[in-house]
Amino acid sequence: MDAIEKLLAGNRAWAKQRVAEDPQYFRHLAELQRPEYLWIGCSDSRVAANVITGTQPGEVFVQRNIANLVVDTDLNLFSVLEYAVKVLEVRHVIVCGHYGCGGVKAAMTRESLGLIDKWLYSIKDVYRLHRAELDDLAGEARVDRLVELNVREQVVNLTKTAIIQSAWKHHRRPHLHGWVYGLTDGLMKPLVTLPPGSPVDEVFAYDNV
Ligand code: CO
Repeated sequence: MDAIEKLLAGNRAWAKQRVAEDPQYFRHLAELQRPEYLWIGCSDSRVAANVITGTQPGEVFVQRNIANLVVDTDLNLFSVLEYAVKVLEVRHVIVCGHYGCGGVKAAMTRESLGLIDKWLYSIKDVYRLHRAELDDLAGEARVDRLVELNVREQVVNLTKTAIIQSAWKHHRRPHLHGWVYGLTDGLMKPLVTLPPGSPVDEVFAYDNV
């Protein structure tokens, strides 16, 4: 079986199994999308949102990019965020990084890698903000600490947006979470939770949202 046929065969087997367990499965799922979570994760194939959280189709709205960044010029991510918060009314937004992240490692090198330099730029800024702590570490420990600091920084980036500030003010949702996933043990480490109304850096706070 070739690589593409493997996917299609896998799909047929999966659909058949779902219907065997619950004849109404797809009818129910097709009627409504009402996920409680927005997931902002890394594109890494090993960090599959539904699989590693034991959730099903319909439960998690997903946006993934290299190194799980929240970049203010990313129209794609901000469209997803606005739709998730305003229309789907998600109760939780999770930024999920992972130890050993290739994007974070690449941002720590002094090598120009082409177009992706632009994408990794903001991780270099995270490094700069925490240079004193990071320079004291070496090897994987330094990468893994930057992975954690990067996740925290992306959660903070969410608080800078009018989308989140408005939802916090008018609807008292969503909670923002920063997690790091361990590739070697499959376990999630929660790092930070910001409930609605958490402090927003003064220069980013909007009065008229
Ligand atoms: Co990654």
